[in-house]
Amino acid sequence: MKAYIFDLDGVIVDTAKFHFLAWKKIGEEFGFELTHELNEQLKGVSRVDSLTKILGWAGVSVSSEKFDELATRKNADYLSYVEKMNENDILPGVKTFLEKAKKENIGIALGSASKNARPILQKLGIISYFDVIVDGNDVTKAKPDPEVFVIAAQKLGVDNEKCVVFEDSEAGIQAAKTAGMKAIGIGSPEVLTQADEVFSGFDAILNQ
Ligand code: BG6
Ligand code: MG
Repeated sequence: MKAYIFDLDGVIVDTAKFHFLAWKKIGEEFGFELTHELNEQLKGVSRVDSLTKILGWAGVSVSSEKFDELATRKNADYLSYVEKMNENDILPGVKTFLEKAKKENIGIALGSASKNARPILQKLGIISYFDVIVDGNDVTKAKPDPEVFVIAAQKLGVDNEKCVVFEDSEAGIQAAKTAGMKAIGIGSPEVLTQADEVFSGFDAILNQ
């Protein structure tokens, strides 16, 4: 048996832009301008690790109370964007690709750093496609550590070498490669240089 493991943000749905907007606002509070280039280093990275990086770039240190308050506020802001989403926000080709995989009896898992993964999949109406969901609530080590994908493969009962990971982040591609899985990049080949193959999206994969 073989399996597909999907990242969520930036792969299934374009929430990566909402994470960017919410972190940009937090950075601005410290006079720091988050660029798209630096934002690549936040993709796939946990909430806590993302905030640690931003504060480091801004050159500030805060108390642990302030840290928690910033992380909570960023998440509330992010969720205010997510609230307005519906199934029309699923990225092109994703649903057809999931349906095709189901018909071919390929195991389907989610491997995401997000603690909001389940409610987002529910909101998009596609949670039932997933045999296994591993998210930010289930892991102790964030991408680029392979833990999230290794747990997904174990839960599916599929060997790592038989798993194909779909990822939009450098950290996620690295995690998949470290796990011995095939890594398909969703995005640009200039950014996702370690991926086995890179596509602009699932429409492009379906039309290849
Ligand atoms: C990843 C995103 O999927 O999830 C990151 O690429 C985000 O940008 C991380 O920080 C954690 O998400 P959340 O929803 O738990 O803050
Ligand atoms: Mg992602």
